[in-house]
Amino acid sequence: MATQAFSWSRETIDDRIVNPEVYTDTAALLADYATLRRDDPVHWTEPKGYRPFWAITRHADITSVSKANDLFINRERTYLSPIEGEQWILQTTGDTHLFRTLVDLDDPEHRKLRQITHSWFQPGAVKSNLEPKVRAIAREHIELMKSRGETLDFVNEVALFYPLRVIMEILGVPREDEPMMLKLTQETFGSLDPDVIARSQMLTEGASFWGGSSGNKQVDLFQLAQVFFQYFGAVIADRRANPRDDVATVIANGLIDGQPIPEREALSYYVITATAGHDTTSTSAAGGFCELARNPAELAKLKADPSLIPLFVEEAIRWTTPVKHFMRTATQDTELGGKTIRKGDALALFYMSGNRDEAVFDEPDLFKADRNPNKHIAFGHGAHLCLGMHLARLELKILFEELLPLIDTLELTAEPKISTGNFVNGLKTLPVRVTWA
Ligand code: HEM
Repeated sequence: MATQAFSWSRETIDDRIVNPEVYTDTAALLADYATLRRDDPVHWTEPKGYRPFWAITRHADITSVSKANDLFINRERTYLSPIEGEQWILQTTGDTHLFRTLVDLDDPEHRKLRQITHSWFQPGAVKSNLEPKVRAIAREHIELMKSRGETLDFVNEVALFYPLRVIMEILGVPREDEPMMLKLTQETFGSLDPDVIARSQMLTEGASFWGGSSGNKQVDLFQLAQVFFQYFGAVIADRRANPRDDVATVIANGLIDGQPIPEREALSYYVITATAGHDTTSTSAAGGFCELARNPAELAKLKADPSLIPLFVEEAIRWTTPVKHFMRTATQDTELGGKTIRKGDALALFYMSGNRDEAVFDEPDLFKADRNPNKHIAFGHGAHLCLGMHLARLELKILFEELLPLIDTLELTAEPKISTGNFVNGLKTLPVRVTWA
């Protein structure tokens, strides 16, 4: 690979942008992304412990790669994983992936699988099927929040549990199984944060489904996958026998080329819906609320004009960008940003960097509750564009529509903490004082 002279060290930046610890320090991470966007937006990256890849940091390049789904495919390498972890999965399962979810697949399989739930997740369907249920769940969580009094942790009281209940509702998982599902959604995306793992272990302490931690992350993840495959296997059987009006039924009875969805794909469908639909929405809710605590003028704007809430929701999603990257692999030699990408090269699409790209956003490092336009790419782009984005928007809009009128003043009582992780991460604590109106 041709070397270029930069004022920064290639080794340092390469190791930093994959380092899960760096993601706990947003300012440091954004500084690295800004350096790459300015000096080398299509950057050949050779971090220690990971296979090399191209780091794509500009909004325009991320969208053009995401749109070219034949040229850049998902299946080969979906997200950044240390070489050691990749080898373990290959040896244990004989495959490069533990699951066969939508994000792991390409057309034509991907299109056929996605088609099964497509209409269910369209904005009109989500609104008419779910709005009253989601509003009731939001109100219930806000009541709980109020019952805590004036000082509380917004992540651990509200943001973590509200989207979990919504997603479990549509997957038909009863409330008593929620602690178990929390473990799935918190640990499947490879959470490396000791506090997050400790929290999910505390909530599942002594649960009969879980044999306990082996001390090896890969072994635990594999064991967890088996537990969930068993759990959702029973859900499939039930929904085939007793169809209901939920997404679980749509998946269980979905057909591909006239045949039922293969077992592993069906089980993986539940897993991706549960996992992709939880932490992402939690993180945006917490990050948006945090910015309102930091900026009373922005809170006042929304309270004065609640019709701005949908714009605020988009800004909260841009600001937090809960999914930090996805990867693609080139199927043939091509050019991108003046660089030659070889067939088989991997590319990491750093969405958080695209969402702070000064070429697209006016004052990108300012949180503006009424930012408009807001062409963020936190939901990705192209054929894999987030399936649940209309649901996520609805959940966040309803939460803030219900919550903001009840709040008089809001402030942080300590600096919030961000979880460790280079894939899906965000606030793990948000200590606030609220005076209720
Ligand atoms: C895919 C972000 C909420 C289900 C994705 C992708 C991103 C993303 C970046 C990959 C897009 C790409 O490769 O171009 C988010 C964010 C959310 C959110 C930021 C909340 C703020 C949800 C919810 C659900 C969901 C609530 C579930 C109901 C999915 C699924 C995929 C996906 C199934 C795979 C789509 C495919 O590969 O075709 N999401 N998501 N997401 N998301 Fe979301």
